[in-house]
Amino acid sequence: MSALFTPFTLKDVTLRNRVAVAPMCQYSAVDGMTTDWHQVHYAGLARGGSGLVVVEATAVSPEGRISPACTGLWNDRQAEGMAKIAASIKAAGAVPGIQIAHAGRKASANRPWEGDDHIISEADGGWQTIAPSAIAFGHHLPKVPAAMTADDIARVRSDFVNAARRARDAGFQWLELHFAHGYLAQSFFSAHSNQRNDSYGGDAKKRSRFMLETLAAVREVWPENLPLTARFGVIEYDGRDEQTLAEAIDATKAMRAGGLDLLSVSVGFTIAETNIPWGPGFLAPIAQRVREGAGLPVASSWGLEGPSVAEKAIAEQQMDLVMIGRAHLANPHYAYRMAQQLNVEDPAQLLPAPYSHWLSRYRLGE
Ligand SMILES: Cc1cc2nc3c(=O)[nH]c(=O)nc-3n(C[C@H](O)[C@H](O)[C@H](O)COP(=O)(O)O)c2cc1C
Repeated sequence: MSALFTPFTLKDVTLRNRVAVAPMCQYSAVDGMTTDWHQVHYAGLARGGSGLVVVEATAVSPEGRISPACTGLWNDRQAEGMAKIAASIKAAGAVPGIQIAHAGRKASANRPWEGDDHIISEADGGWQTIAPSAIAFGHHLPKVPAAMTADDIARVRSDFVNAARRARDAGFQWLELHFAHGYLAQSFFSAHSNQRNDSYGGDAKKRSRFMLETLAAVREVWPENLPLTARFGVIEYDGRDEQTLAEAIDATKAMRAGGLDLLSVSVGFTIAETNIPWGPGFLAPIAQRVREGAGLPVASSWGLEGPSVAEKAIAEQQMDLVMIGRAHLANPHYAYRMAQQLNVEDPAQLLPAPYSHWLSRYRLGE
């Protein structure tokens, strides 16, 4: 009996299993609008058997895009394209989720395959970035952001609210706020990037304020019966890990009290000088500490592919949901594949009828 292939219910939403497609930017949008690429990509992933598909980091404003080719939800035309994607995910039996994001000081970069995520100058179509403090990420992202004013903070908060409303109206049933990976919210949380001396900077409580206020504002428009989640980097692997983790668990508890239903536990990626212990499931013990410390369901990611690694993470209650990224790019039917490998009964049932009818007695060779 596989723990990975048991349903997971959060609020009024039930995922058919504990496998989620992690959000993955496709850098294939035009003016923030999805293209045929996205339509085919997400429908294909949803047909592969996972319980949840989280659509890529979708910017709440033009300046919040990582690159000019990122998707957005700052206008209604963008929402129309997203509605088709949500419907196609649902039609395949998965729950449609979306991550809404602001890239902060890591915005205005090129597509990764155009030269390793380098900043684009304004002459080449880039834009002025914003962040809690005027401190550049450095390295390949040397652009110095403008320190946000109180008005900027209020505007971005309302951009998150408007994007959440559009995501809701487009039919998404799972919302993930991108509070991770060195983007805007994470850069408010981290003392590496936040050196403000107003009520948004200083101690951990003040550095968490941007996340908490954004969450509270989104909670007002996101339906109470649908999961409101966030992805948050709870550790940087920068040598100050116990302190960061303790602060992150406190912030997560506060978010839980503010209406957060699940945390997707990730790495901060606020600075480049880190010592990340890459390896299969390396973040799972950290996810478990957050799950136990903050007392709410968690998902996690990074090297959780492989049926035994994913199964263990769920069976040992390190997390409630595994978010699998690249393995789904390699094989969009990766959840089905893992179900086969774990000897789940009739795994072809995870697939839509035009596939499952032919595959229930078929076993792909190794
Ligand atoms: C192409 C690509 C795009 C990604 N885009 C996002 C994103 O939009 N939002 C996000 O939170 N993480 C993003 N990530 C990180 C993934 O969600 C995931 O955590 C990462 O790939 C590790 O999981 P894996 O080892 O299963 O691939 C991206 C990763 C890849 C490979």
